[in-house]
Amino acid sequence: LAADEDESETLKRRMTREQVVEYLEFYRDLGVDFVYRRAAPTQSDLPPLAPVGETLDQIRLDIGDCKRCRLSEARNSIVFGSGNEHARLVFVGEGPGADEDEQGLPFVGRAGQLLTQMIDNTAAKEGIPISRADVYICNVVKCRPPENRTPQPDEMQTCGHFLYRQLMTIKPKAICALGATAMKALLNSKEGITRQRGQWQKWHGIPVMVTYHPSYLLRQYNQQARREAWEDLKTLFHFVYD
Ligand code: URA
Repeated sequence: LAADEDESETLKRRMTREQVVEYLEFYRDLGVDFVYRRAAPTQSDLPPLAPVGETLDQIRLDIGDCKRCRLSEARNSIVFGSGNEHARLVFVGEGPGADEDEQGLPFVGRAGQLLTQMIDNTAAKEGIPISRADVYICNVVKCRPPENRTPQPDEMQTCGHFLYRQLMTIKPKAICALGATAMKALLNSKEGITRQRGQWQKWHGIPVMVTYHPSYLLRQYNQQARREAWEDLKTLFHFVYD
């Protein structure tokens, strides 16, 4: 510390450092090993220590006009998520496509329409009185990757911090990971979707069901994969809503 710094300044600085350490240790213990944040100039700028009691609006505010990774360069909107903040079921996709980037909402393009149909029709067929508006839908990365490429590991890490906070805030009864990117982000799994789908796994104690991404179901007109995805949703819905 500078020799001419007065005592109260020194104290303020020390407290700030201790709080930062506490903050980082808290997240590390929860399994987050990467926290991106600009240095806070004063103690009062520090974010709250724990996400406990945090709302989705607060998380969105913290994202701000994010420039934390290269995906910010070409995006039009940050696609945070949509649906019920108190949902018992959360769907996690990969990242926004062109339509989502334009509208600022997740799963509104062709894949989104298929997902909506799958949710609404499965619920109707199984006699479960919910529709898309009752669940929450978001993505691993909140900005559209150029040419819809797969998000890179550092992009997933940076943005995954916000996904983590969204899921911890909602605390759903179950999560549905749509496709390989969501599966990797939540379960750190290197196995293929075909082997992982349809089985219960856990993310921080919350049951996770992996299934095919709706874009895959659109691309490959694959009757078998479609049937399996519907089966997965049926299992998921009965688990969550029965
Ligand atoms: N695909 C995704 O993974 N997410 C969206 O929001 C739209 C398409």
